[in-house]
Amino acid sequence: MNCRSELSSWQMLEKSAENLKQKHLKTLFSNDEKRFDKFSTQIPGMLFDYSKQLIDESTFAQLIKLAEQCDIASWREKMFSGDKINITENRAVLHTALRNRSNSVVEVDGEDVMPLVNAELEKIKSFTDKVRSGEWLGFTDKSVKDVVAIGVGGSNLGPQMATEALKAYADDTLNVHYVSNVDGVQLHQALAGLNPETTLFVISSKTFTTSETMTNARSSVAWFLESDATEADIAKHFVAVSTNLEKTRAFGIADENVFTMWDWVGGRFSLWSAIGLPIALYLGYEQFEAVLEGAFEIDEHFKTAKFEDNIPLIMALLSVWNTSFLGHTAQAILPYDQALHMLPAYLQQGEMESNGKHVSFDGRQVPYTTVPLIWGMTGINGQHAFYQYLHQGNTIVPADFIASLKPQHNVGQHHDILLSNFFAQTEAMMAGVDADQVRADLTAKGKTEAEIEQLIAHKIHQGNRPTTSMILDVVDAKAVGRLIALYEHKIFCQGIILEICSFDQWGVELGKGLASAIEAELTQENVEHQHDSSTSGLIAYYKQNR
Ligand code: F6P
Repeated sequence: MNCRSELSSWQMLEKSAENLKQKHLKTLFSNDEKRFDKFSTQIPGMLFDYSKQLIDESTFAQLIKLAEQCDIASWREKMFSGDKINITENRAVLHTALRNRSNSVVEVDGEDVMPLVNAELEKIKSFTDKVRSGEWLGFTDKSVKDVVAIGVGGSNLGPQMATEALKAYADDTLNVHYVSNVDGVQLHQALAGLNPETTLFVISSKTFTTSETMTNARSSVAWFLESDATEADIAKHFVAVSTNLEKTRAFGIADENVFTMWDWVGGRFSLWSAIGLPIALYLGYEQFEAVLEGAFEIDEHFKTAKFEDNIPLIMALLSVWNTSFLGHTAQAILPYDQALHMLPAYLQQGEMESNGKHVSFDGRQVPYTTVPLIWGMTGINGQHAFYQYLHQGNTIVPADFIASLKPQHNVGQHHDILLSNFFAQTEAMMAGVDADQVRADLTAKGKTEAEIEQLIAHKIHQGNRPTTSMILDVVDAKAVGRLIALYEHKIFCQGIILEICSFDQWGVELGKGLASAIEAELTQENVEHQHDSSTSGLIAYYKQNR
């Protein structure tokens, strides 16, 4: 296989990068009044504007050529049709089957998985209806009031992010509390004030071996049994989501209380499976189904839109352009919608756990920077925290700005004020202010020549900082499904273009293994392993002083 950097499009793009690094976005805008029309597109529920990215028409054409030379279309076909594209774990990658609303056949190893998917959705629906209607009774015949959802990483971030995003659509049937950290403080705080008689635990772990989740699950059982409940009552208060029936059984969860997922559902792409159960419990099954429908719309867009209009592909190409060609090694995610406040955290896992790697499909070290560091927070709060760095720091951080036409709640003029900030920030990052503008401004304010000389260098803003703007109609269940699916397919395309296997996480597994060996040193007598002097010193300090 050709290394990506040997492709003709890659080499052309390297030349374009040298050329465009000398250009300013402001000039590109003033030279072409149709720039916004050329570099923006709309799909139902969203406007996508990438005209403030440092590209021109020929670069964009080369990026599309790169996608063609990387064979995106056939990789996409392989993913949707259940080929084992997770090559290091020999697994299919079929989160798209979980939201395949057309119900068309999707085969893994010759078996159509859709009947399994549909049966599980039916089980989620019936369980959700029972719990929400009050029919599901706890050990003292009371209905459920609180759900404690235990899980970490992909078994937590998706449901929690969606729950936060869709709070506006919740009624007061149930409260949901998420526990992901093995720091007992989080579990303690979640359980404070809860009544074991009316609490339902959902233990979500694909493997059912993740130490943090198992520890939280065991402590929850202990808390539950401190009440008048007996072991036999666990069946009424604990359900699990997992692929590992052996482990859920060994834990003491009745088989009928286990919601299944499959090895072809990657943890960080699992929101659409029974891992999304807490969303359905909190909002009702219909809302969960609307999340799936939104994602399905994007699957169809991704499969059918031509490359030039294909939003997830364009997102991936821009990321590769900014990172591997222009050398920007970070990217900010900046939602101007309170509902999306957990989106940056969610996408950190999505992109960095998927593509934060440096070897190609066949194990060669790749000669380019792969993905950027993903970080961010809601835009307004970010403006008063780290935007100074985005505006005038000496590294450039491309950013995704995400807002909605309509807020979930209209309060006075708030939404116009919020959106004014969104527009102003992207404009400032693109255009900046030059010395002449600063001078004119300070002169108009009556500053002396000496004062102007002192201030001018500090106030110049070079601009030319690339941003993408996405404007959703409103954050509702479909919009959440659409947005997440867009980023998922971006991550997929990014992996193919960079020749990265996006669906494993061997680095994370290494840390897990080391932690469990050290855990034995902290919790058992006479267990000591060989470490470097720093790690040994830290462990000894902790053991002597804890
Ligand atoms: O964070 C690492 C990871 O392996 C993720 O990929 C996964 O979502 C998470 O751990 C939790 O794993 P599990 O669902 O098996 O508990």
